[in-house]
Amino acid sequence: MDSRDNSPITVNTAVRPARMGDGSGIAKLVNYWAAQGQMLPRTLGETYEHLRDFYVVEDDDDIVGCAALHLVWSDLAEVKSVAVDERMQGLRIGATLVNACVDEAIQLGLSRIFALTYQPEFFEKLGWKRADVMSLPRKVWNECYRCPKFPSCDEIAMILELE
Ligand SMILES: CC(C)(COP(=O)(O)OP(=O)(O)OC[C@H]1O[C@@H](n2cnc3c(N)ncnc32)[C@H](O)[C@@H]1OP(=O)(O)O)[C@@H](O)C(=O)NCCC(=O)NCCS
Repeated sequence: MDSRDNSPITVNTAVRPARMGDGSGIAKLVNYWAAQGQMLPRTLGETYEHLRDFYVVEDDDDIVGCAALHLVWSDLAEVKSVAVDERMQGLRIGATLVNACVDEAIQLGLSRIFALTYQPEFFEKLGWKRADVMSLPRKVWNECYRCPKFPSCDEIAMILELE
């Protein structure tokens, strides 16, 4: 008799707001992808400073997905640090996390949100549109100036209008 378990892999993709105990798991996941050049790194200190921005997906006590909604201005927020564990890709964890940020942005009354990414097709699948980063002056003047990539940023700006 074949004793192998052929049942499909099931993952709990429930999204929840981050808690203090998630900080190191978030930083580990983000910095894994930062080391591949896919996003900016975050120190553990920055992660705790912005912990209330984050949503996470947890599996077996590991953080396997995260995304953050970062307020920029009265009408603008950025979806940042969208990261899914390499072993858990394609399970809609990324989509669920981004949509949690979108739902919160709507509840807050924001009119649009944006992301800077090397994966524009992922955001397009979720209804986002490509944009010129210079159409986001608040972002550029508030944060881009302090970024090591400025002024040669090659990330693609994506926007979702919420009204
Ligand atoms: C990009 C990333 C967040 C996607 O997460 P994921 O959980 O694997 O994606 P999902 O399963 O939620 O995919 C949702 C849809 O987007 C598509 N998709 C996902 N990644 C894609 C990509 N890189 N290019 C094109 N389409 C992509 C999926 O096929 C799916 O399409 P469908 O609705 O037709 O089935 C993940 O690959 C990741 O963490 N990458 C490294 C970090 C990164 O680049 N983050 C990007 C934002 S800064």
